[in-house]
Amino acid sequence: MIINKSIKPAQGRLGVLVVGVGGAVSTTLITGVLTIRKGFKKPVGSITQMATMRMQDGEEKRIKDIVPLAELDDIVFGGWDLFPENAYDAALYAEVLKEKDLNLVKDELQSISPMTAAFDHNFAKRLNGTHVKQCATRWDMVEQLREDIRSFKVANHCDRVVVLWAASTEIYLPMSEEHMTLAALEKAMKENNTAVIAPSMCYAYAAIAEGAPFVMGAPNLCVDIPAMWEFAKQMNVPIAGKDFKSGQTLMKTVLAPMFKTRMLGVSGWFSTNILGNRDGEVLDQPENFKTKEVSKLSVIDNILEPEKFPDLYGDVYHKVRINYYPPRKDNKEAWDNIDIFGWMGYPMEIKVNFLCRDSILAAPIALDLVLFSDLAHRAGMCGIQTWLSFFCKSPMHDLEHQPVHDLFTQWRMVKETIRNMVGETAPSYLD
Ligand SMILES: NC(=O)c1ccc[n+]([C@@H]2O[C@H](COP(=O)([O-])OP(=O)(O)OC[C@H]3O[C@@H](n4cnc5c(N)ncnc54)[C@H](O)[C@@H]3O)[C@@H](O)[C@H]2O)c1
Repeated sequence: MIINKSIKPAQGRLGVLVVGVGGAVSTTLITGVLTIRKGFKKPVGSITQMATMRMQDGEEKRIKDIVPLAELDDIVFGGWDLFPENAYDAALYAEVLKEKDLNLVKDELQSISPMTAAFDHNFAKRLNGTHVKQCATRWDMVEQLREDIRSFKVANHCDRVVVLWAASTEIYLPMSEEHMTLAALEKAMKENNTAVIAPSMCYAYAAIAEGAPFVMGAPNLCVDIPAMWEFAKQMNVPIAGKDFKSGQTLMKTVLAPMFKTRMLGVSGWFSTNILGNRDGEVLDQPENFKTKEVSKLSVIDNILEPEKFPDLYGDVYHKVRINYYPPRKDNKEAWDNIDIFGWMGYPMEIKVNFLCRDSILAAPIALDLVLFSDLAHRAGMCGIQTWLSFFCKSPMHDLEHQPVHDLFTQWRMVKETIRNMVGETAPSYLD
């Protein structure tokens, strides 16, 4: 392994505290990691566990042999949820994985019980769990979460902790002046301004305050505000997100670059899907769907650049729909109809029908975001980790920069960052 002396080694145990630890993505992530480390399954879909890249001299190496990532054996899971079931019972409820697969690690799953959630019903009206903290103010919420992180770390002998949001999507929250500076954010928390301080912000603040990288797997505003960027830099903590790029958007960020590279025009893109899990139920609430819609809509314009190519992309009709349909549970079905045009403006149509498994796609992304954020922390990186845009539907970026959505450009960003960490440059021929 090539080790840059400035990257601290991944020594000791890594606590992974998951917000929404009883959810479909979380229980699929945890069961996957536990079964993989026992040798029962392979880490399919995980970049940190399986991907390779070329080094300066042309040699191809596994990423995990280039940079010192935490071993799966060293991970300890915990987290919060507003339903009290342990991870085994929660996974049975989620119905993503077969019981026979859960039984491979039943004891370990049963030993993971959620801490009480920091929750406000106004931010997810479809959820009615009772395993919830009593908090006088949002600041009190932060203090309780900080105490949870500290106690977990001590009780589980962890050297480091990463906090991962894999909880429900909160209602749409526009950015306001309370989010612009750390001082304003803290003031709003202390004054208990519940209209502008989402519970997710309290988790993010608590994580950063405890020196733990924070990963945002949903599209919530949360850590994507100048106040949190400021705090993350001040505390030297990496933050990453938002919204796992798992299915339909993954396809979009592959197909749209192809249209642009071939200079084919696009006149419309209609995306719809049916989904029957708890995530689908929460997103059935218009205020919660709005958060997701904003996250999904920006992708195409960003890649196609209509201002640069008005003849090709100046008039794209883009629509995204998510329909809650209980019989499908986690097995989402997505349809895309793409109206394109070619030589002399002649129209053509592309239909994509993706019968995916939402949490099967999202779990390795969550694992990679956690392990790379921990790596970034040990490499002395802090603030927004734009190189992790590869994993996100709505990549975080500061006010001066545009997000990058093209999957292949994003992949180059991952490789570039890893090369920089170990003092290498790209090979001179095809990367
Ligand atoms: N599955 C995917 O492909 C995918 C892709 C992108 C984003 N996401 C996002 O990931 C998140 C999780 O998805 P899921 O399918 O696992 O959903 P889920 O509904 O199965 O799980 C979410 C869990 O979060 C818990 N929760 C909600 N608010 C909480 C809070 N304040 N504190 C603690 N726990 C809380 C809920 O009780 C639930 O157990 C969602 O926001 C979803 O939009 C999922």
